[in-house]
Amino acid sequence: MFDGTPDEISKLVEPGRVHRRVYTDNDIFELEMERIFGRAWMFAGHTSQIPNPGDYVTADIGRQPIMFIRHKDGTPQVLLNRCAHRGPKVCNEPCGNAKALTCIYHGWTYDTDGTLLDVSMPEGAAPHFDKKDFGLAKAPRRGEYRGFVFVSLAEKGESFDEFLGPMKANIDDLVDRAPDGEIMLDAGMHRYYFRGNWKLQVENVLDSYHVPYSHASTVNKKGEQFSRREGDKEGAQVVEGKSAKTADAWKGRRSYVVDFGHGWTSNTELKEGERSSPAYDAYKDSLAAKVGQDRMEEILEPEFHNSLLYPNCSIMGLNIHVRIIRPVSADLTEVTVYPIRLKGAPDEMNSANIRLLNVTHSATSFVQTDDLESFRRTQVGLQSLQSDWIDLSRGMGEEEADPHYNATRESAMHEMAIRAQYQAWLYYMCEAA
Ligand code: FES
Ligand SMILES: [Fe+2]
Repeated sequence: MFDGTPDEISKLVEPGRVHRRVYTDNDIFELEMERIFGRAWMFAGHTSQIPNPGDYVTADIGRQPIMFIRHKDGTPQVLLNRCAHRGPKVCNEPCGNAKALTCIYHGWTYDTDGTLLDVSMPEGAAPHFDKKDFGLAKAPRRGEYRGFVFVSLAEKGESFDEFLGPMKANIDDLVDRAPDGEIMLDAGMHRYYFRGNWKLQVENVLDSYHVPYSHASTVNKKGEQFSRREGDKEGAQVVEGKSAKTADAWKGRRSYVVDFGHGWTSNTELKEGERSSPAYDAYKDSLAAKVGQDRMEEILEPEFHNSLLYPNCSIMGLNIHVRIIRPVSADLTEVTVYPIRLKGAPDEMNSANIRLLNVTHSATSFVQTDDLESFRRTQVGLQSLQSDWIDLSRGMGEEEADPHYNATRESAMHEMAIRAQYQAWLYYMCEAA
């Protein structure tokens, strides 16, 4: 029986390798729900999803059902979605608008900030019953940066500022692309499930090593990937056309890591000067009109490919979107992909971004399907007792300080970013023990 002491947890992560149980063991999964998803700062929603008072979306953080709702006074609230009487989930639609929230069971009614307004047949209430004690609980801690609302379900822990740290720049990199300085996650979502552990998807977003092999079907005879941004004629050079060896441009990509398991990969080299289409050109004009030519050029100089806010929020800077990874069980994971609209950009540019996401990250897209098959095969393969260990040692000892970003950097063909994720995993799993 696994009791989850720091001593026991520490034995699962060694330099350059992790025990296969971290992907397959139900006891470990339960501890992750409590110690990571019940404790770390987690994405709860984006304010653009709830523009008007009473607007809400429902979600789950780990296993905790929540409501992200705009209160009458305009503040975004994160409420735990459980009736304070006998426990039903109060709000059951994925999204909507409500003047008040009424529980299906006995009709208790809550305000949009969770305050209990009315109970049915109040004359039957016990003498000590006080409505003030029976509101919908709020997430204990809440933080917001440029519309991204995060919560921690624990009373104590590092502050939101400490958690986010230098990753603010990665959010800025995305949001600054909007001529009006705001992004909108209001264009629906893609959602897929895969039969594999959640960490497989988290690791994958900063794994450039797999791309030339896993996604070989996405490149043309010249070794270039299909275009993933509006205005590009073709995508990145991933392999050398004739030899089919990984292209030097691809090998030159870097990964960066900072505290708490966060990290990113450097930009994908593309022919920036040749990026042009009616939609993209109109977008550039709208951005320049708001921020000036120089700043526009600075903003559109790509810096980040994919950023990860550990444990489960990924921001893609190439074909822009936000992805939230939610564990369901040790071998089942839900992933929600939100397309992004840039506020103030022409409609045709925003539509083009959304359309491109259908091609890359929907459940039936050219890119995502390759990864999902790898995750599924990994989960099946890990049942094998061939070895207890999973190798993550590529590039060990080659990490170096990056003074520009105040981060640690290494080749993105290596596995530093995944090792950093396991340091954060150890931190959360042991600190709460
Ligand atoms: S359980 Fe919700 S009103 Fe009774
Ligand atoms: Fe991939």
